[in-house]
This record gives sequence, C-alpha cells and structure tokens, in this order.
Amino acid sequence: MTNHPATEASDHARLVIAVDGPAGSGKSTAARGAARALGFRYLDTGSTYRALTWWLLAHGADISDPDVVAACARRPVIEVGTDPEAPAIRVDGTDVAGPIRTREVSNAVSAVASVPEVRRHLVAMQQGIIADAIAAGAGIVAEGRDIGTAVAPDAPVKVFLTASETVRARRRTAELATDPTATVEQTRAEQARRDRSDAPQMAKAADAVEIDTTALGLDEVIREIVALAQAAPQAHQGSAGSRGRPPQTPPDSAGSGGRPPQTSPDSAAPGQNPPLRKAGAWST
Ligand code: DC
Repeated sequence: MTNHPATEASDHARLVIAVDGPAGSGKSTAARGAARALGFRYLDTGSTYRALTWWLLAHGADISDPDVVAACARRPVIEVGTDPEAPAIRVDGTDVAGPIRTREVSNAVSAVASVPEVRRHLVAMQQGIIADAIAAGAGIVAEGRDIGTAVAPDAPVKVFLTASETVRARRRTAELATDPTATVEQTRAEQARRDRSDAPQMAKAADAVEIDTTALGLDEVIREIVALAQAAPQAHQGSAGSRGRPPQTPPDSAGSGGRPPQTSPDSAAPGQNPPLRKAGAWST
C-alpha cells in the first residue's frame, strides 16, 4: 500500500467506520463520500466478491457449483485500493473496475459470495486491509453487508443504510445507465432475487445506527456519518502531528483536493479507472 497523506493527518486517525446495507441503499456512494470528507481510506468489500466472480466467469467456471467456486477462491490475485478518489480493483494485475459492474457479474455474485470458503478468504483479506490502515495511523470507512458483524465487529462507528425498494431500483438503474436494456422494472426484479440470495450474508449489527436514505440527499447521509465519526471516542485521540485539521464539511467534491498522485493499487494509472462520481448524486 502507498502513503495516504490526507489520511495520516486526520484527527480521526485509527477510526474504523462500518457501513452496511442492501444493494441500492446508497452505501457505496455515502461511504466513499464520508471517507473523502474525513480524509479516510475507503474499502468497498463488495468489489472483492465481484472481482472473484468476474475471474470465475472469465475462466468459464460453473459458479452454481459451490465446490468449484470454493476450489478456485484463492486462485486469482485480487488487489483492492483504498483511495476514495479512485478505488482501484485488479485481478491478476488487470484493472476490472468497469467489468465487475456489469449485469452479468451483478447477477452471478450472490452465488459466489454465499460460499463459505470464499467468505473466509475475502473477509481475512478485508481485515488485513483494515489492519494496515490502522497500523499506518489512518482511519478507514469499510462498506459491505457484514462489516459491523464479521469483518470489523469492534468498529466504534457502525451504520446500516436502508431505502425503499423503488428508490433502490431507481438508483441501480441509474448506475446501469450504459446498459440500454436495464429498465427500473427489470432492475427491481433482479434486485429482489439478489436480496433473497444476499440475505444470509447480510446482518445488521445490534449497535449499528440505522439510516433510511429513501428521502435523504446524499450530502445529508454523509453529514450524519461524519457526525457519528466525530462523536466516537477515537475521534478525540488524534495522532502525532494531527492537530488542527478538522474534517471537511460535506459535500466534498470529486476533485482530488490537491493530493499528490498515488501509485498502484490505490490509484491506477490515468485512464484506468471509471470517472469519479460527484457527491450529491446517489448511485448505490
Ligand atoms: O455491494 P455490492 O453490490 O457491490 O456487493 C456485491 C455482492 O457481494 C453482493 O451479492 C453482496 C456480496 N457482498 C457480501 O456478501 N459481503 C460483503 N461484505 C459485501 C458484498
């Protein structure tokens, strides 16, 4: 991992924020926006399940067979970056940030994510990334389905995002805007199927703060997460050289804020990542 100048300087250093919720609840956009606002690292755990699924499909593996999936779980080298400005994801050195968002992968990933060997492997990897951030004196926002219960059960800040089914389908359809065949109705049906398959993997921690994002703007949700971070005990511990830099007030724009460029895998070479979304627009 590379250096994260803004992160290491944060007053909220070493804070882990767990953001969980179903597809379309807004967790990715909100978690990433909160990481930017706080100067934290950002971990999209769903991208690791998607990356493995992409690899399995690319190799013609029968993903309906849990034994096949389990046997392949450790074969690809999956690298996930933690820069919220450019959350890179690579499989065996290939940038798969775009390919892992296709409907084909979206409709196959639940089956892969339900295989225990896959979860053991990827949860351990995610815990390693969080541990690296903490060891470096950084804060990190990790988002997924089981962060508050399995990946980082000791996280001092836990958020569980929800949204109505219709709003979730609308956000998902907008995300798939490049796929002309994806209608809201289709997306809603696919989403219902995925919800059923994802249900066993998703858990709301007893101590998580639930936020219904149906009628909220992205900036309001980011503000709530930032406020929870500021209220956490760790927020006041700080770290050497961290004084006097309050977190930025959201909305934080998609610009890099003058950060020096970072190297792989935290930010890929120019042109390798999809364009950043600005805070203020929901996706997932
Ligand atoms: O959040 P997402 O849609 O990118 O997640 C992709 C898949 O991975 C989805 O089927 C749920 C699963 N997932 C999981 O089981 N545990 C996580 N921590 C994150 C995602």
